[in-house]
Amino acid sequence: MALLEIKDLKVYYPIKGGIMGRTVDYVRAVDGISFEINPGETIGLIGESGCGKSTTGKAILGLAKIYAGKIIFNGEDITKYIGKNRSPYRKSVQMIFQDVYSSLNPKERVLDIIAEPLRNFEKNTKMEERKRVDELLSIVGLSPEDAAKYPHQFSGGQRQRIGVARAIALKPKLIVCDEPVSALDLSVQAQVLNYLKDVQEELKLSYLFISHDLGVVRHMCEKLMIMHRSRFVETGIASEIYENPVHIYTRRLITAIPDLDPKLRAVNAKKRKELAEEYESKLTQYYGPNNSVYDLKKINDNHYVAIP
Ligand SMILES: Nc1ncnc2c1ncn2[C@@H]1O[C@H](COP(=O)(O)OP(=O)(O)OP(=O)(O)O)[C@@H](O)[C@H]1O
Ligand SMILES: [Mg+2]
Repeated sequence: MALLEIKDLKVYYPIKGGIMGRTVDYVRAVDGISFEINPGETIGLIGESGCGKSTTGKAILGLAKIYAGKIIFNGEDITKYIGKNRSPYRKSVQMIFQDVYSSLNPKERVLDIIAEPLRNFEKNTKMEERKRVDELLSIVGLSPEDAAKYPHQFSGGQRQRIGVARAIALKPKLIVCDEPVSALDLSVQAQVLNYLKDVQEELKLSYLFISHDLGVVRHMCEKLMIMHRSRFVETGIASEIYENPVHIYTRRLITAIPDLDPKLRAVNAKKRKELAEEYESKLTQYYGPNNSVYDLKKINDNHYVAIP
């Protein structure tokens, strides 16, 4: 059974207008997406800025109001309870936020930051709590002395580790990782990614891994969902999509991955130019009226594409 099933999820942000402040229209941030996450699996959610990735993650956490659709966790429809802070679901699903610099309260010590979810869900004595925090710090490669420090006393990579320690404190089943490395230096990125993998194995976690960069998720995800204009344009097994991308948007994303081989760089630059021209001339083949994204069609069991 899937750990999490998302069925035709829509998240619309109201646009208020007029003197009455009535809703005059909506920003359709997520407009009908469906997917499943299995236990222990990493799924990548990829797409350009503003396509609806963070909104998808926030809806799963109950931090963005769902306009339509269903969220099913371990076979149970939890759509109605998702906003309830202390439900067992909220213990099982955690998020690592996009911005490591603003997601940790600068006025709180690391001890309080990491202990916060424990205080919300468990009744521990001060000593038990301290022991748990030390364990968590050691899992993410920090030391017990770090508990007394404040976020500004850490590097970007270390801060992200604090965010991870907080996210795994309640032994969740799923972590939504929203661009967990995009604010970090290239040299630190690989380190954080590797160590997210180690934690995953140790705790048998599932990840929904959000990124605008297909290169970053290449070695993280077994499955991919390519998002464009609030919907999915292509989904499936990662290797299948890398080797045989069908939608023009996916093909453009793949040629945008930087290549270390100088020979391939020139070839890729040419491909990018050709694809940009094809994108302009064949737009109507890939998008419907008003540039809408078609429903996904099955290419094979491991591969779906939004084509007419
Ligand atoms: N609280 C909000 N109120 C109104 N509109 C919002 C809100 N949050 C996001 N949006 C809009 O919803 C759309 C999707 O935003 P979202 O943050 O999900 O994008 P994203 O794919 O995560 O982008 P990025 O890669 O830049 O993080 C955007 O058009 C954004 O302006
Ligand atoms: Mg985002």
